[in-house]
Amino acid sequence: MSPGQVSERRQTALDLLVKNARVVTGSESFESSIGVEDGKIVRISPNLQPLGAEVFNAEGKIVIPGGIDAHTHMELPVTNTSSADDFYSGTVAAACGGISTIVDFVDPKPGATMLEAFSDYRRRADNKVTVDYGLHMMLKGQSLGEIGSIPDLVRRGVSSFKVYTAYRKRGLMLDDPDISKVMKEVAQVGGLVAVHAESEDVIERLIRQNLEAGNTAPKYHALSRPPEAEAEAISRVAAIARSAGVRLYIVHLSSKAGREEVEEARSRGTNVFAETCPHYLVLTDEVYDGEDGRNFVMSPPLKKGVDRAALWEGLLPGGVIETVGSDHCPFPSSQKDWGEEDFTKIPNGVPGTEAIIPILYSEGVRKGRISMFDLVRLTSEAPARHFGLAPSKGSVSVGADADFVVIDPEKRVRMTADALHSKIDYSIYDHITTDGYPILTVSKGEKVMEDGEFIGKRGRGRFIPRSAGT
Ligand code: URP
Ligand code: ZN
Repeated sequence: MSPGQVSERRQTALDLLVKNARVVTGSESFESSIGVEDGKIVRISPNLQPLGAEVFNAEGKIVIPGGIDAHTHMELPVTNTSSADDFYSGTVAAACGGISTIVDFVDPKPGATMLEAFSDYRRRADNKVTVDYGLHMMLKGQSLGEIGSIPDLVRRGVSSFKVYTAYRKRGLMLDDPDISKVMKEVAQVGGLVAVHAESEDVIERLIRQNLEAGNTAPKYHALSRPPEAEAEAISRVAAIARSAGVRLYIVHLSSKAGREEVEEARSRGTNVFAETCPHYLVLTDEVYDGEDGRNFVMSPPLKKGVDRAALWEGLLPGGVIETVGSDHCPFPSSQKDWGEEDFTKIPNGVPGTEAIIPILYSEGVRKGRISMFDLVRLTSEAPARHFGLAPSKGSVSVGADADFVVIDPEKRVRMTADALHSKIDYSIYDHITTDGYPILTVSKGEKVMEDGEFIGKRGRGRFIPRSAGT
């Protein structure tokens, strides 16, 4: 019998019984049935009786913990618009891809305090989310005067703070001394500092040079944000984090040079881990030459094949890339078209929350790049631990929330815009037909997706206050 399993001697009524499952955790795999009652996993045992419960026969399928996407931007205001998915459509997409918890980033409006912005996000998300959610705080220049409220935010369950080394014009960028101040404050409460690491000085100079030379096509977005811009910023913020004694989370790592800097920082004693995103694992900068190149514009941009390979390697056990998040922030093609004559006018961001598990399973596990244990570690166990969601999230174990996903290894899905659920009119993944796909997502014991169809309810998800993590 595996850890977490219990005998069925005292079996009481269940709400849902998943039988004949091959359960995979971050370190083991076993055949069992899973009993769910009141939103929790109450039994894991080979011989459970339905006793009136709804039964799902998972024979031949794989059951893993529900995915945790710790990097989404639902209804994010950006210049002249906001990201296409709100907390409803975005979490529908998440659920349909096997994600049962998201963590979004609060972006305080001009003049709003962080606490006001937190309440505003709660108001907007609470009646829309279809799965559970948590919130990180974006700590911009306008909030530097109120970093004293960080402990208060942590008490409310916001234990991670994101700073930017880029986007000066959008008011997001902090200078190094301010990053240091924030890191010291967050270190005091045992929180986490997330960094969007791209060097503004490098980027600004290259953008200016390209525009002056008439280089306005989407590929110049990528050429203005080279791997060195990422590597330089990582090396810098890692040194600041080390001296502040704070835990550091490098979001959306996109390059080999960036990975090497995270490794170097770790070897010097920085408490750091990185995240990458599905698009960096399956796409390269060649797409910017295509007719629809604008649709692939995100920051940091896609890099070369050598970078893509280095990111897969970084996902292996002991590697510095410990989580895969989506940076889900899509825009319709009509808005991507704003950059037809100037790449700087393209709203930055792509969809992804629905792609994490399908891509890691089909392109990763089935192609032998990572193991099934790695997939579970990257999509649920490690995010739960790092973002303060364990032990209720991130595992299939007795006492945990009944958040899990059933993957059918035989199901093939071409990831077209029609197959996906984001509110946009194209897919950056439509060249991919997967080997295997999630066929059932269960959130707190309720089926929210079955056979590709969303069957949950608007507003059923709950805010999850997060502890400071480990
Ligand atoms: O291109 C990206 N990463 N977009 C996400 C939203 C933002 O601007 O940070
Ligand atoms: Zn982001």
